[in-house]
Amino acid sequence: MDITKHPIFQPLQWPGHSLKNRLVIAPMSRVSATSEGLATAEMGNYYAAFAKGGFSMIITEGNYTDEIASKGYPHQPGLISSVHAAAWKPVVEQVKTHGAIIIAQLMHAGALSQYSQDTLAPSAIQPGGVKMAQYGGTGAYPFPKAMSLEDINTVKNGFVNAATGALEAGFDGVELHIANGYLLDQFLTPELNIREDQYGGSTSNRFRIATEIIQAIRAIVPAHFLIGIRLSEGKVNDLKYRWKDGAAMAVEVLEEARKAAPDFIHIAVQSGEWERDSFYSNGTSYAALAKQITGKVIIANGGMHQLTRATRVIEESHADLLSIGKAALADPAWPSHILNGTSPLAFHPDMLWPEATIRHTNQVIKSNHINIS
Ligand SMILES: Cc1cc2nc3c(=O)[nH]c(=O)nc-3n(C[C@H](O)[C@H](O)[C@H](O)COP(=O)(O)O)c2cc1C
Repeated sequence: MDITKHPIFQPLQWPGHSLKNRLVIAPMSRVSATSEGLATAEMGNYYAAFAKGGFSMIITEGNYTDEIASKGYPHQPGLISSVHAAAWKPVVEQVKTHGAIIIAQLMHAGALSQYSQDTLAPSAIQPGGVKMAQYGGTGAYPFPKAMSLEDINTVKNGFVNAATGALEAGFDGVELHIANGYLLDQFLTPELNIREDQYGGSTSNRFRIATEIIQAIRAIVPAHFLIGIRLSEGKVNDLKYRWKDGAAMAVEVLEEARKAAPDFIHIAVQSGEWERDSFYSNGTSYAALAKQITGKVIIANGGMHQLTRATRVIEESHADLLSIGKAALADPAWPSHILNGTSPLAFHPDMLWPEATIRHTNQVIKSNHINIS
């Protein structure tokens, strides 16, 4: 087969945006901003390499959204002030030189902060598992404080303010992190949210904070500025977590997403085991349900560098776009390699161990005498 005719290399027209292929960079936290949360020139080169290497859309690592309790780890980038926006601006410009669009992921760590012992969550439930060493965490997660309505307002304002910062920096949009067990996913997950007010109980109530954030951002940004959401079942501290009611719960969540009307929905499978961790007993996947129920642009994730899987996802209409994480981190020119018939450098866990910084990954790659420039 002529590889240029492969489904992953077909363009996608989107109102206001045109993507040359279906390949997206998945958000990956790289612990490489300054201690004040400012993006750096090293991050500019890192993100631009993906665009240069053939990816058409880049979603950044999660940016913290307020100074109170949103930070997940030291050296995380933030988008809480115009200083942060100014630091991202040259990175955004560098990426756009290569024709890709770039989306800022906005993230509140909630009870899963590696950074703080004073955490916030919908309910005072201690997360299972231990903190992640490669993000500077040690020991058990603390008991979070159950958020007051005032705390919820502060969080919402933080997200909206961060979206304004993203617009100021020139980003093409934002992705709200409602996945992987972080704050907005804690609200959505029945076992982590036992509130009895309007933010707990029904799925509609548990999705309410996300809906309110989407609507508030929508009210202040121009039409071409994309608002996406990232959903998952798995949590970083419990990768195999699945909704108790399976597809029935997924349908309820996606009905709420449809009403909130984001521009895209990104279904994350952090384990990389897409078939194992995203299908339901009725044979449908979370991504396919998202496509059927919302009719929005859907991004599938979870080992999408495997071409047979990627082909199936597009051809069977599970999703429109594919986000790639670790394989792209190992080789930012992954799309060019596939087009040219050359082998991309494969991911190795040492690239993220003992730390997940850009510098460390580059050192591991260089020490194997591989040219990464
Ligand atoms: C180093 C690293 C950092 C990550 N950071 C984030 C993040 O900031 N936000 C997020 O939503 N997912 C994050 N993820 C999850 C990825 O976006 C993706 O879901 C996961 O790597 C599975 O995709 P893959 O099989 O293509 O690697 C991270 C993954 C890795 C490997």
